[in-house]
Amino acid sequence: LLVNASEALGRPIPETLFGIFFEEINHAGAGGLWAELVSNRGFEAGGPNIPSNIDPWSIIGDEDSSLTVSTDRSSCFELNKVALRMEVLCDTTGTNKCPAGGVGIYNPGFWGMNIVKGKKYKVVLYVRSSGAIDLFVSLTSSNGLETLATCEILASASQVSNWTKMEVLLEANATNPNSRLQLTTTRKGVIWFDQVSAMPVDTYKGHRFRSELAEMLADLKPKFIRFPGGSFVVGDWLRNAFRWKATIGPWEERPGHFGDVWMYWTDDGLGYFEFLQLTEDLGALPVWVFNIGISRNDQVSTSNVKPFVQEALDSIEFARGGPNSTWGSMRAAMGHTEPFDLRHIALGNEDCWKTNYRGNYLKFHNAIKKAYPDIKIITNCDRFSQKLDHPADLYDYHVYPLSAKDMFSMAHWFDLTSRDGPKAFISEYAVTGKDAGKGTFLAALAEAAFLIGIEQNSDVVSMASYAPLFVNDNDRWWNADAIVFNSSQLYGTPSYWVQHFFRESSSATLLHSTLQKNTSTSLIASAIMWENSDDSKSYLRIKIVNFGNDTVNLKISVDGLEPNSTIQLSGSTKTILTSGNLMDENSFNEPNKVKPKQSPLENAGKDMEVILLPYSVTSFDLLKG
Ligand code: AHR
Repeated sequence: LLVNASEALGRPIPETLFGIFFEEINHAGAGGLWAELVSNRGFEAGGPNIPSNIDPWSIIGDEDSSLTVSTDRSSCFELNKVALRMEVLCDTTGTNKCPAGGVGIYNPGFWGMNIVKGKKYKVVLYVRSSGAIDLFVSLTSSNGLETLATCEILASASQVSNWTKMEVLLEANATNPNSRLQLTTTRKGVIWFDQVSAMPVDTYKGHRFRSELAEMLADLKPKFIRFPGGSFVVGDWLRNAFRWKATIGPWEERPGHFGDVWMYWTDDGLGYFEFLQLTEDLGALPVWVFNIGISRNDQVSTSNVKPFVQEALDSIEFARGGPNSTWGSMRAAMGHTEPFDLRHIALGNEDCWKTNYRGNYLKFHNAIKKAYPDIKIITNCDRFSQKLDHPADLYDYHVYPLSAKDMFSMAHWFDLTSRDGPKAFISEYAVTGKDAGKGTFLAALAEAAFLIGIEQNSDVVSMASYAPLFVNDNDRWWNADAIVFNSSQLYGTPSYWVQHFFRESSSATLLHSTLQKNTSTSLIASAIMWENSDDSKSYLRIKIVNFGNDTVNLKISVDGLEPNSTIQLSGSTKTILTSGNLMDENSFNEPNKVKPKQSPLENAGKDMEVILLPYSVTSFDLLKG
């Protein structure tokens, strides 16, 4: 492999080449990145009708003799009127005695709440009652027998005759990843509950993201976050699509919605504001995907799409407007006076082929460009195979081959594409099907090759992100995914680890590199040069994927270095990702089975003989000195 380290012969890689795509799929946010422990906190999962679906809330006690539970529309929150009504029939005296521990309701969270000894949890609930209350708010084991933390709330009838917000701080005295939140009493009477929340006090940057999951994202050093979908944005029906205005402001007032593509309810605690906050917390730029009046099954006609266009304009004002603007002031009221750095809007997702797409797109495009000429607009029509019939700054392109071999050959997909016109945003790529399993080494290896191809073609590909990002192991809608978790455990799949090889690529210089003609066709390589912000030193990274079954002995020669510059032995490293079996996967039991391994590069220099293991990704980080 010949690498020319001359910057003059190289090419700057776009600043935002590699990022992440967050979609509310597989309970990625609700029951995932969003640290809320209570599932269906407003009892609203059935929508505004009553009786509502209170699942997964359940009853403690005997429904015939000790309590009755129903829903009504008496909440103090206008957009989510459903409240839970609990009538307690038993008490501590008389003939109908409550069982020890009382009666009430419990919420098991999203397949169990992870409660950790010594950690604090803030529980907030809204309560109203016909009389005085004596309520125990507790975190317990899944059968209620072991109490991890509890607090008694006593209030007189006059204190709770109207809806009252109660807050308690619970400190856990034991650890249990399968806990539940209980609200119990032994006092006869009627109590209404609404908007019951339990959150760990420690969250990522204090912004209510589950820390370990957010840290895995931070480790990828993403340069952008595309959100909140995908198909989640589009919806099966427009009435169920993501509507940003219903996801901002106080969490208690958000109506929540049923995501009808991935079939689950979200309370929308993780709303538009929180997504913008996440991008800022991770040092990434937001890529805001907007529904342009088209779902999978219905469409707004172009002549009626104006209100939808206004919604998009308002969303931009919310992100970027001054604190005195109508929507910017809402953002400021939520605690963020400064604007967010919103520069990209994607119009729709996988709906270019719909009858109204072009007409609706143009309405959005023209209005947004008029108000915000600098915003980059992303179409999802395919510029790869034909010229676009509408203006766009980027075009969205999804790559989901059904085999690893196909993904490997797609590394050269963009080599021959036209160099004119809008550049590609490969916002979703991953091997799917049998080769992908639930996240195999084989799929990751092919994706590494594909990403090398993207790097090589970064003059026509500006952005790329893997999909999907997260899966809660209890709700696998889509295989494979980058990060797998349950209430307390998590691991990166090999596809997650492959992305680590590309963390330094955005903004780096792509160096000119050529594999000798007689090298195996199973190899693909690229070389970059970048300055490391940790030690302010300059590095060359040569990445090579060997997609074949043979060990390859390869000579790497670096020329074009400045006259008094060389490659330092000390400080140069080699990182390898390989595995005993192509179908190897990580798991909760073996989270590090397939993970890159770094070691000093003992023969680092301008000329090196290296060994590439069969089926491997290797990166050589050469310290320039
Ligand atoms: O990544 C999962 C889904 O794949 C996305 O929601 C959609 O855009 C694509 O079809």
